[in-house]
Amino acid sequence: MGRIQLLIGAKGMLGRDLMGVLRSSFLDDEVVGWDIEEIDIQKEEESVLRIEKLQPDIVIHVAAYTDVDGCERNEEKAFAVNAEGTKNVALAASRCRAKLVYLSTDYVFDGSKTEPYVESDLPHPLNVYGRSKLQGEQYVQEWVKNGLIVRTQWLYGRYGKNFVASVLRQAREKKALSIVNDQMGSPTYTADLAKAISVLIQFNAQGIFHVANSDWCTWFAFGQAILNLSGMNEVKVIPLSSEELGRPAVRPSYSVFNCQKLKEKTGLVLRPWSEALKDYLATYRLTIDGPDNREKG
Ligand SMILES: NC(=O)c1ccc[n+]([C@@H]2O[C@H](COP(=O)([O-])OP(=O)(O)OC[C@H]3O[C@@H](n4cnc5c(N)ncnc54)[C@H](OP(=O)(O)O)[C@@H]3O)[C@@H](O)[C@H]2O)c1
Repeated sequence: MGRIQLLIGAKGMLGRDLMGVLRSSFLDDEVVGWDIEEIDIQKEEESVLRIEKLQPDIVIHVAAYTDVDGCERNEEKAFAVNAEGTKNVALAASRCRAKLVYLSTDYVFDGSKTEPYVESDLPHPLNVYGRSKLQGEQYVQEWVKNGLIVRTQWLYGRYGKNFVASVLRQAREKKALSIVNDQMGSPTYTADLAKAISVLIQFNAQGIFHVANSDWCTWFAFGQAILNLSGMNEVKVIPLSSEELGRPAVRPSYSVFNCQKLKEKTGLVLRPWSEALKDYLATYRLTIDGPDNREKG
């Protein structure tokens, strides 16, 4: 008999891609997608009861308060959703004896390393978002046996407000864009990440895994690539330091992942970010037109 898979955060940027991938990869399973309208994970009793009633075999938890600067301004909400909300999901998963998959972030690290981060590196978040997500990881480890924690970074995708859409929108309005040049990471396409999560589930992976598209760059180089690939070379890109930008949340200057563990477990290596970007732009050029596109974490 097929299993029940519950995806929480199903209407978010990753959630929408993941819903499609899970449904097409696990044809024998019933995949149920919930978001804030169906379950507010901050509400312990209500959310635990609702999950227990469904009795899922697998819970994939990608819901979060992802506005990194918003988290800095509203620490209480950040911890209520990302940490305590995750605890509630983990508690329910443990009561159902369900497998739990939790999405976490590169912002659990401080960026002081000079070579790619491995899963066993000591976390040391610099901002509220990173601290709240790290506490979520700790709850997952505390409450469920054999949980899967997938850390990822710099997401963009078809369905959400994101950096790529933001650059394209601004490039239509301005002659020059200022973009930070002192933060390094790997832009990751949600469609690729969704497939990797599904493969990790198929391999019954447990523990922490770093998952990102290959190669790395700065936001500045990413911005330039977006403009080049979109034929908007006439728009100038001006490098800016994080200090000059002065955003409320401090970001790590270096958050490149070593994804060797994913390769060893599943054989999977995500394609270079530039290839994924090309694919994304070719597929969705006509639809990238978000009204406001904050970078999320
Ligand atoms: N975006 C990135 O660059 C990035 C990087 C590293 C890790 N991650 C992690 O990857 C996961 C997916 O990220 P994403 O960018 O796809 O996020 P997203 O687009 O912001 O989606 C998250 C979803 O969770 C929902 N949600 C928020 N609060 C909730 C609550 N209390 N109860 C139930 N649902 C709630 C959101 O609803 P509303 O939109 O109505 O709030 C949204 O639909 C998250 O766990 C995030 O922390 C993201």
